[in-house]
Amino acid sequence: MNANKALWEKGDFTRIAASMRESGDAVIESLGIGSGMKVLDLGCGDGTTAIPAAKRGADVLGVDIASNLVAAGNRRAEEAGLANVRFQEGDASALGDVADGSYDLVTSVFGAMFAPRPGDVAKEMYRAARPGGRIFMGNWIPNDPTLVAQILRISSAYSPPPPEGFISPMTWGVEEHVIERFTAAGAAKENISFERDTFTFRFDGTPAAFVETFRRYYGPTMNAFDAAAANGKEEQLAAELTELFEKENRGNGTGKTVIPATYLRVTVAK
Ligand SMILES: C[S@@+](CC[C@H](N)C(=O)[O-])C[C@H]1O[C@@H](n2cnc3c(N)ncnc32)[C@H](O)[C@@H]1O
Repeated sequence: MNANKALWEKGDFTRIAASMRESGDAVIESLGIGSGMKVLDLGCGDGTTAIPAAKRGADVLGVDIASNLVAAGNRRAEEAGLANVRFQEGDASALGDVADGSYDLVTSVFGAMFAPRPGDVAKEMYRAARPGGRIFMGNWIPNDPTLVAQILRISSAYSPPPPEGFISPMTWGVEEHVIERFTAAGAAKENISFERDTFTFRFDGTPAAFVETFRRYYGPTMNAFDAAAANGKEEQLAAELTELFEKENRGNGTGKTVIPATYLRVTVAK
């Protein structure tokens, strides 16, 4: 059993991704994607960034380890009438038949950071980009005071310790690790740059309902609730997460939950 795949197929990330569409589009807008550009989007989920890239005329391949999200991505592309994007199952750390240097832009927004073996992920991203091309990653930042790092902090307290040798996905939010991984893959250090930006989750409902959506559909949070339930602490975890979501919510009075979160933008020029 591939635990990485099982984790992401466990829930239905589309339920969370629905709150990420606007910022996903803004990330793509910031990358200056033009017609005919070849884009590879890794850990693409159901297309939060792949579909906006295709809407701007790029020729897009989305790769994700979760078969349910690949199917959802292909459905969304069809519904949008886009023939220039397709989704296929694959592992960001072992891309198989993706030819060397075949993409103008290799992106991964909160995707490839979740693959085990981060060194292999950097090698694959760098290998797939053409000379003169670019790699772009959006990565969550460990110990950041905003939403995602805080969900992890709270959830970890209810979960068993990770297995020996586990490398946290959040290490992708630390510049030194990113530099180490991409220089080992062949990039020049001066071609790697960083910026911090804000990604905003927009959910149509209360913060408590948004927590409930994570609880029912987001694999990592589902696991945290399973672990908490084993100790009779499910409701304590729900209460802590609700307090966090309420504190971070900027949608007060609108009936919607609007939560900005800080992330690290990584750009590697090849
Ligand atoms: C937090 S979700 C983000 C999805 C999408 N990028 C978005 O912003 O909506 C993480 C995604 O990474 C995918 N993923 C995790 N490990 C992966 C791997 N080894 N290779 C490819 N995709 C992976 C998951 O299936 C999931 O779709």
